[in-house]
Amino acid sequence: MKILIVGHGGREHALLWKLRRDAPSAEFFATRPNPGMAPLAQGVDLAPTDAEGLASWAEGRGISLTVVGPEQPLAGGIVETFRKRGLPIFGPTSTAARIESSKAFAKELMERVGVPTAGYRCFRRWADAEAYIREHPVPLVVKASGLAAGKGAIICSTVEEALEAAREMLEERAFGDAGAEIVVEEFMEGEELSVFGLTDGRHVSLLLPSQDHKRVGEGDTGPNTGGMGAYAPIALASDELLRTVKEDIFLPILDALEGSASPFRGVLYAGLMSTPAGPKVVEFNCRFGDPEAQVVLPLLDDSILEPLVAVARGGSIAGVEIRWDGRSALNTVLTSQGYPGAYETGRAITIAPELQERDDLLVFHAGTRWEDDTLVTAGGRVLSVVGLGQDLEEARARSLEGVEAIAFEGKSYRTDIGWRALTPS
Ligand code: AMP
Ligand code: GLY
Repeated sequence: MKILIVGHGGREHALLWKLRRDAPSAEFFATRPNPGMAPLAQGVDLAPTDAEGLASWAEGRGISLTVVGPEQPLAGGIVETFRKRGLPIFGPTSTAARIESSKAFAKELMERVGVPTAGYRCFRRWADAEAYIREHPVPLVVKASGLAAGKGAIICSTVEEALEAAREMLEERAFGDAGAEIVVEEFMEGEELSVFGLTDGRHVSLLLPSQDHKRVGEGDTGPNTGGMGAYAPIALASDELLRTVKEDIFLPILDALEGSASPFRGVLYAGLMSTPAGPKVVEFNCRFGDPEAQVVLPLLDDSILEPLVAVARGGSIAGVEIRWDGRSALNTVLTSQGYPGAYETGRAITIAPELQERDDLLVFHAGTRWEDDTLVTAGGRVLSVVGLGQDLEEARARSLEGVEAIAFEGKSYRTDIGWRALTPS
């Protein structure tokens, strides 16, 4: 079997790691693999968004499964391009991926089918947004409707902040076309959880829930990032909560998409807020989360290969359950100093040799590259350091042990990943 991974960040490194365990005899390929992926997969020198190029390449190579990591190729229609040529590919079509690529679409869909989410309005005109913001109590959340790498949601505690955020998006195009339409919504109080649902468009198998830490600063303060760390399992995700999430959130959305002739096949990610009134949707994504995939995938006891193949071929996953192995995992993301603002790259990275080939400590690469013989930083989020243990304390200690054994100038990270579960409130 020949498997192609599209994408080359921490999530894709974790997907590659998991699929190699599930399919030890398969041959693996990846688009421009990062230095952590390169020893595990042959490189394909095409951009993840080059759908036509990748489809031709995959056809020529006889690829039997393509798995797409990031949202941009999905939103750009890579799945349609592959399907037209009869190539099995795991992920939703661009029409179904609108659930992530247009927050306005996602909100309208949720409203239509009665899925709980924050009250909202969408705007394209600054004057309309301004009038609305002035009339509504703060805090408010102002969001670019389009794709903004996890940075397009601004939590505003004053009217002035909300006006400023809306004006920057609509008038100054701070997020380019992604902010041509904005969503202004009420602030939801509560604890967040991320749930991945593996789906064939009709049936869904929920994977172990996890918790992301989006804010850059300790104690969840400061601006939003692509994700500073994650852990799983999370205590608040009881069986009862998950039943509600499946029946009241996933299934109505999947039914509606199937009913409108754009079934969602792939991983539907629900970012949820656990509120006193029950779970409410913060956002949907059309793919695995990053940095959550780096903790969820290593904790799965079952193979995900067969369900991915079934979905990619247009088959069914009815009755499929993907169990958790009972351990805990905690991912500390190492970033370049300054992220999510401006940062420098090209800093030499050293990773202690004792971190290699361990079962309880995994290092997934994201923003790294080789410069001659030196591993250097190449992005804001550089590495995911995942500790595994019998409980969260042990997982955390392993992750921090790994963090200590990695050095680069400007190495930045949060020391408090998992704090909600670790510090009794
Ligand atoms: P989003 O881009 O929609 O995922 O938003 C990014 C992050 O902003 C979320 O993970 C939450 O932490 C926060 N956020 C977004 N919308 C809300 C909301 N309505 N209430 C509270 N927090 C929110
Ligand atoms: N962890 C947030 C995301 O993947 O969008």
